[in-house]
Amino acid sequence: METRNITVPETAEYIEGLYVQSNPYLKALRQRNQAAMVPILLEETEGLLHQLALLRSPKHILEIGTAVGYGAICFGVWCPEAQVTTVEHAPEMAAQAEENIASAGLSHRVNVVLGDARKVLAEWNEGERQERRSYDFIFIDAAKGHYLEFWELCLPLMAKDCVVVSDNVLFKGLTASDVFSAPGKKKRKHRTIVRRLRTYLDYLSHQEGLVTSVLPVGDGLAITIVSNPEQVAAQWKLKQIATMEKNDE
Ligand SMILES: C[S@@+](CC[C@H](N)C(=O)[O-])C[C@H]1O[C@@H](n2cnc3c(N)ncnc32)[C@H](O)[C@@H]1O
Repeated sequence: METRNITVPETAEYIEGLYVQSNPYLKALRQRNQAAMVPILLEETEGLLHQLALLRSPKHILEIGTAVGYGAICFGVWCPEAQVTTVEHAPEMAAQAEENIASAGLSHRVNVVLGDARKVLAEWNEGERQERRSYDFIFIDAAKGHYLEFWELCLPLMAKDCVVVSDNVLFKGLTASDVFSAPGKKKRKHRTIVRRLRTYLDYLSHQEGLVTSVLPVGDGLAITIVSNPEQVAAQWKLKQIATMEKNDE
């Protein structure tokens, strides 16, 4: 049992022990990839995502960060009417994900896009692309230091009442408190990620028009409902202009 400093290990272990995967394909995929240390959804996180997907019944799902396609296949299984688009920048991961999605019989509804999500989403935002304002469920699960950039690029893609789930936002407890910070080589990189995650959570929690819960589930989840994405996008632009004007003074 890995210590994640989110809940006490005994509680996390107990909750993980309650996890049941009834889909044999997903069960085997999890076992194979956990053994190979491939990063996939934690069990607790999967359970909550499953419930949210059933509550929202999304029709267009966007996932940022595919790895081997475990999460994308989950969405495809849970939401039989949904089209799932998932973006991955590592070619070998994307290729493995496509293979797994094909084996799960979901290639007609689950689409892997190869590329850095920052570039891919920026391209989608140019012109009158069909992706604009179409996604009703977005799962952000890629490089933690870029969440605010992903968010900005997702804003024009969100449909009304979009649900956005951001994973790993508590980052082994480091976001909540510096007491979890371990000495070592990665300390500086971690400090940058932590600073950015704090800014991200601060924004999600305080921005008018967003309703966000930060939950100590898995490695920390932020669940945000965006009722009126156009309004939130307009406020984002105004804030940027104000910051630019301040910098000019
Ligand atoms: C935690 S894993 C994703 C797990 C997956 N969502 C699942 O549930 O099975 C994170 C993935 O994001 C990818 N990634 C990181 N930064 C990215 C970026 N800027 N654009 C696209 N993919 C990225 C990594 O290569 C990695 O495969």
